[in-house]
Amino acid sequence: MNNATKERVTERLINEIRINQTIPIDKALALFSIGLQDLLVHLKTIASWGYTINNENSNLSFVSAPDALIDSEISFGLQTKLIGCKVVAFQSVASTNSTAQNLAEQGATEGTIVVSEKQTKGKGRFSRHWYSIEKKGIYCSIILRPNFNPEDAPGLSLMTAVAMADTCKQFTQASVQIKWPNDILLNSKKAAGILTELSAEKNKINHVIIGIGMNINHTTDDFHDEIKSTATSLSLESKTQINRVQFLQKFLVNFENYYMQYNQDRLTSILTKLRDYSSLIGTQIHLEYGNDIIDGKVLDINQDGALLLDCDGEIKTINSGEVTILKN
Ligand code: BTN
Repeated sequence: MNNATKERVTERLINEIRINQTIPIDKALALFSIGLQDLLVHLKTIASWGYTINNENSNLSFVSAPDALIDSEISFGLQTKLIGCKVVAFQSVASTNSTAQNLAEQGATEGTIVVSEKQTKGKGRFSRHWYSIEKKGIYCSIILRPNFNPEDAPGLSLMTAVAMADTCKQFTQASVQIKWPNDILLNSKKAAGILTELSAEKNKINHVIIGIGMNINHTTDDFHDEIKSTATSLSLESKTQINRVQFLQKFLVNFENYYMQYNQDRLTSILTKLRDYSSLIGTQIHLEYGNDIIDGKVLDINQDGALLLDCDGEIKTINSGEVTILKN
């Protein structure tokens, strides 16, 4: 048996024990047509992957799984049809968005996700670096191939933000807000960012990559000096360790539901939520977009996801930019 085949047997063995919770050793040996020595080798491998399996009274019992972003863990019990249909997982990559981009160009199917325990060149908006500390956060990119026009793609960032905000709410009592267009704030500090990258021709989208960087189990020491005072994590705000696999699975379910809606009516169904989550409506902001800088009061977010800004009586519609809140 070569190593890849051995690994597949190990993975099937984990799943079998997990689904049944307990199986007799005799049954496991018969099921996989292996001897006791081989079984012990598989159990050693399973332990090295971070699983705890009890081997007592001639039975194997499932105790716990590691909080590891590996494909078998993410796929196990994942309640989606499309998003996460294929999971491509790494211990380290430069950027999951760049990897997803390459896979999409090679024909990867819609719903494929790329995750990594660490990124060495994580990309943020405006060519910034996204610090991606090993095994603390979720660094994930989703490949989409929607049928709508390229001009409808930017709204996907806001849709993703709502899915992310809903997921945070499932894990914390902290205040959860969306800082237009793509930041998630917990108790007014940034906990996640979204980077949407589009590949399109005239009237046709080739693919969209939705990149999500979420600070999950970071401590304050994990943040670089430049973001220490403005960044937070889900764990810091909820004062408990969070299971990243569970968070990601719940997010993927929320994302899939909102994506189905978005395909029907774009932002219409989620506009109320978007407004409720907004950290900007009613505030005075400073906005940089392209080479322009303007100040104004945010009146609303419209159906296209644009900000309506009152600039000394003149109402401007803003589609993108970087916002600083001046006062509430
Ligand atoms: C931002 O707030 O500026 C957006 C940050 C997006 C970071 C994520 S991490 C996973 C994916 N891969 C990347 O290189 N970037 C996105």
